[in-house]
Amino acid sequence: MLALRTTSTLRTSFLHQHAPRQSLSKVLASTAVSTANPALSCRVFSSSSYAQSPKDQSASPLGPIGVQAALRAASDPTFIPRPTLFEKELSLAGRVAVVTGAQRGLGLEMAEALAEAGAAVYCLDLPSVPDETFNATQTYVSKLDLSDGARLEYASIDVTNQQEVWDLVEKIANKEGRMDICVAAAGVLQVEECLDYPSSKFKKVMDVNVNGVLYTAQAAGRQMVKFGTPGSIVLIASMSGSITNFGQHFLAYNTSKSAVIQMGRSMACELGQKKIRVNTLSPGYIYTTLTAALLEKEPHLLKEWSSQNPLGRLGRPDELRGVITWLASDASTFCTGSDILVSGGHHAW
Ligand SMILES: NC(=O)c1ccc[n+]([C@@H]2O[C@H](COP(=O)([O-])OP(=O)(O)OC[C@H]3O[C@@H](n4cnc5c(N)ncnc54)[C@H](O)[C@@H]3O)[C@@H](O)[C@H]2O)c1
Repeated sequence: MLALRTTSTLRTSFLHQHAPRQSLSKVLASTAVSTANPALSCRVFSSSSYAQSPKDQSASPLGPIGVQAALRAASDPTFIPRPTLFEKELSLAGRVAVVTGAQRGLGLEMAEALAEAGAAVYCLDLPSVPDETFNATQTYVSKLDLSDGARLEYASIDVTNQQEVWDLVEKIANKEGRMDICVAAAGVLQVEECLDYPSSKFKKVMDVNVNGVLYTAQAAGRQMVKFGTPGSIVLIASMSGSITNFGQHFLAYNTSKSAVIQMGRSMACELGQKKIRVNTLSPGYIYTTLTAALLEKEPHLLKEWSSQNPLGRLGRPDELRGVITWLASDASTFCTGSDILVSGGHHAW
């Protein structure tokens, strides 16, 4: 396993050591017209959907699926019925993803899920070399019988450096010949009372949680436009962007997550015509290194946080696997500008 370090030289050498799965010209050719790969055929969209009739707009670019497939089968004896939900709508075969904050925690769990669904996933995080959990997950993925190219890669990056993030994601996209999925999950939490919140700490939280998310989304979005891939960008916000955590001093964190939710809506509105979808995913309390730091310091918080949602417990990282795959895939092609709350119902009362 090779890690990309922060210097562009090392990044370049990493990218050169891994030959592209397809040449750029081949990939561009395959996305310009309808492709033989059913998992990729959905990537061809009309740029004039406004001018189409309602019937045309209602035809899935994936071909007949669900009830439409049933009607086709009823009228065409040569049409072979077969399930499409996992083969087509939710499949990420052939797709390329970048996930930040993916050395551990929610980022790594989501990256693993995207790879299981078929994507080549580039996990970007601060450490120059990933830890044992990442290595074990990468090895595990390599042993699954996944579609061609599905895997986890690792690269080191500080998401607060706009140019470095743009350059790295550009190199990944050039190497793979496409960019389909972006999950901006890198984030930090700091606790200070609001009237005393030091400027340096406030700026740090905003720099990672807001600026870093923007730079990541920009980096991927620019490549999606360049390669003409109708991509999906998912910004990891939090329920703390919509509610205030009872009894907690999360001023900067809460402020940053509200900004991410509004960033997602704004980007969705600007990028819709380019066929790029942008949504935010807002988890509730989930046990990771981020929350463990607080729970270890104040063990009574486990009972408090668990009792603050109708399910009476914290969430698990694996409980984001389905929703991230759905958001990244063609199963969610009419979803953009939305904030998807996965909070155990914390926000419901
Ligand atoms: N765990 C929860 O309860 C919870 C709830 C809601 C939202 N979230 C959000 O989910 C995301 C992931 O959180 P987590 O719980 O997995 O936390 P985590 O601390 O386990 O993981 C965060 C990752 O972000 C990386 N990171 C931090 N600063 C970075 C930088 N400048 N550049 C690159 N990477 C950087 C860290 O190295 C780490 O690997 C965060 O955005 C967090 O705010 C978490």
